[in-house]
Amino acid sequence: MLDARYSIRSHVGGKLRASDTGEAVTLAGWVHRRRDHGGLIFVDLRDREGLVQCVFDPDASAAAFALAERVRPEWVVKLAGTVRMRPEGTVNANLPTGSIEVLVTSAEVLNTSETPPFEVDAAIETDEALRLKYRYVDIRRPEVLAALTLRDRVTQRFRKELEHRGFLEVETPILTKSTPEGARDFIVPSRLSPGRFYALPQSPQLFKQLLMVGGLERYYQIARCFRDEDLRADRQPEFTQVDIEMSFVRDEDVLSMMEDVMHQVVKEAGIDLHTPLPRLTYMEVMDRFGSDRPDTRFGIELSDLSEAFAASGFQVFAGALASGGVVKGINAKGAGAWSRGRIDALNQLAIDSGAKGLAWIAFTPDGEVRSPIAKFLSEPEMAALRSALDVAPGDLVLMVADAPAVANEVLGTVRLRVADELELPREGHSALWVTDFPMFNYDAEEGRWSANHHPFTRPWDDHLTMIESDPGAVLSYSYDLVMDGLEIGGGTLRIHDAALQRRVLAAMGLDPADTEVQFGFLLEALSLGAPPHGGIALGLDRLVMLLAGKHSIRDVIAFPKTSSGVDPLTGAPDVVAGRQLRDVHLKHD
Ligand code: AMO
Ligand code: AMP
Repeated sequence: MLDARYSIRSHVGGKLRASDTGEAVTLAGWVHRRRDHGGLIFVDLRDREGLVQCVFDPDASAAAFALAERVRPEWVVKLAGTVRMRPEGTVNANLPTGSIEVLVTSAEVLNTSETPPFEVDAAIETDEALRLKYRYVDIRRPEVLAALTLRDRVTQRFRKELEHRGFLEVETPILTKSTPEGARDFIVPSRLSPGRFYALPQSPQLFKQLLMVGGLERYYQIARCFRDEDLRADRQPEFTQVDIEMSFVRDEDVLSMMEDVMHQVVKEAGIDLHTPLPRLTYMEVMDRFGSDRPDTRFGIELSDLSEAFAASGFQVFAGALASGGVVKGINAKGAGAWSRGRIDALNQLAIDSGAKGLAWIAFTPDGEVRSPIAKFLSEPEMAALRSALDVAPGDLVLMVADAPAVANEVLGTVRLRVADELELPREGHSALWVTDFPMFNYDAEEGRWSANHHPFTRPWDDHLTMIESDPGAVLSYSYDLVMDGLEIGGGTLRIHDAALQRRVLAAMGLDPADTEVQFGFLLEALSLGAPPHGGIALGLDRLVMLLAGKHSIRDVIAFPKTSSGVDPLTGAPDVVAGRQLRDVHLKHD
């Protein structure tokens, strides 16, 4: 909390209370609002702790009163006066300082202000681009201040809890070499090494592993990460991780440490997190929710209907089943009366997400069945469907027949859309672990296997023999922390054996020469006494966003960039002078 030490104030205005009555005080802050009542002028003075009403009475000071006639919103002033109780009937119960006011005896303008681009008032909806251009004015709004304050509390709490558990905070380089986390690198040309570039770190991943090789045993860092990817509400080009690494651990050690720390941290937002958190495997969440970051605050789980349609004469279902696919469905309870247009929009969503179509059967509230496909289904099939999805009048059944991965993912997307449209309540928080991810994904575009988390992830011991023969079947020691349908953290146990690391990189199609150039330093370190180790990184911005009840991480970052990666305040990214380009060997004339 702000106090008056080391300043020109004697007191912080926003912290004055009835117990301060009679005190002579010197305050400093911004003019929030000014009300001229003819004989008296009221100024609400604002500082970081809040507002306090200051009264200018010509009988108390003619000079101060004259000054109060001139001041405007956002002027910076210093006021001296005496705290007194407000007269009966004028107490403002909505304000912590609402029972008192300051009768001003002297006043000084420290700075004037142009008319601000928008009012510093929580109730005002201002265009975000304008707010970001004048972010320093925006930050004066209590809402923004509260978000930054919560972020501070959460960050400090992480530090404290991790310190208590023997973690050392270590800084790692920003000018470095590429770390593959799946995004594009930001690169920085080097003046001293012509034609060479640094990469900004996508995460401190390799350095934290090297710290384990260095015998640090427990590391953490509030680390800035840089990723040149397409931006969304939960993605910024630079963001912050609470980055953690530990030696001599099993995966459950990392999970329980993280749960203990999270339990303490979320208390800063008044949340009581029940631990241990549920642990669901990747297979299970894909099967039940069609997402590796399921929002479990509502139902509409996916059901496998393959058995119900095993002998179906409906060609779409039969064809999918015959080629090894599945028929899966969800029951959108309460959507049975949706219009054709509305259901067609879901169909389009399913197609855009990779399905060939979306089969639907609407059970209207008055007991009728509407559906383009019901006529192809037998009575026993309809009965099996009703029982599998617990169908009642007023329900809408949505089905996808396809390869399991496609059916799951598409229904996962449709599930979220349906929940949005039904406005299902998603209050409170639900956190869980998703574990045991596949080690590799097949990248059809590149025609090769890529690492699901990153290539330093350790495959399951008893799956090592499949790395070359059946990469898609290899599972890994990996875990994501999911909260309210968002991935707020992820980690893995690491490969600590150079030979295994080479095999994994080779399975990803990296040729040995490239491997040495890109990862030689890591492989060398792994061959010089690397302990078994593992860790995790939490997305601090995302966590604070959820705890603050916001919908964009921009709301919890002091100076965020827009969705096009631009900073409207400074104008970055900007052009640079030809001379600077020549210095870094990017221009030669
Ligand atoms: P990962 O890439 O999963 O793991 O990142 C960890 C967490 O960081 C957050 N995050 C982001 N937040 C905002 N904007 C972004 N662009 C962004 N990208 C990621 C997410 C994510 O869960 N080195 C590994 C961790 C490890 O293995 O220990 C890593 O970076 O919340
Ligand atoms: P507030 O709820 O703080 O905005 O106050 C309500 C209104 O009460 C103000 O706008 C003033 O008009 C009036 N008021 C507050 N304090 C005083 C006071 N000390 N004397 C006279 N009127 C007051």
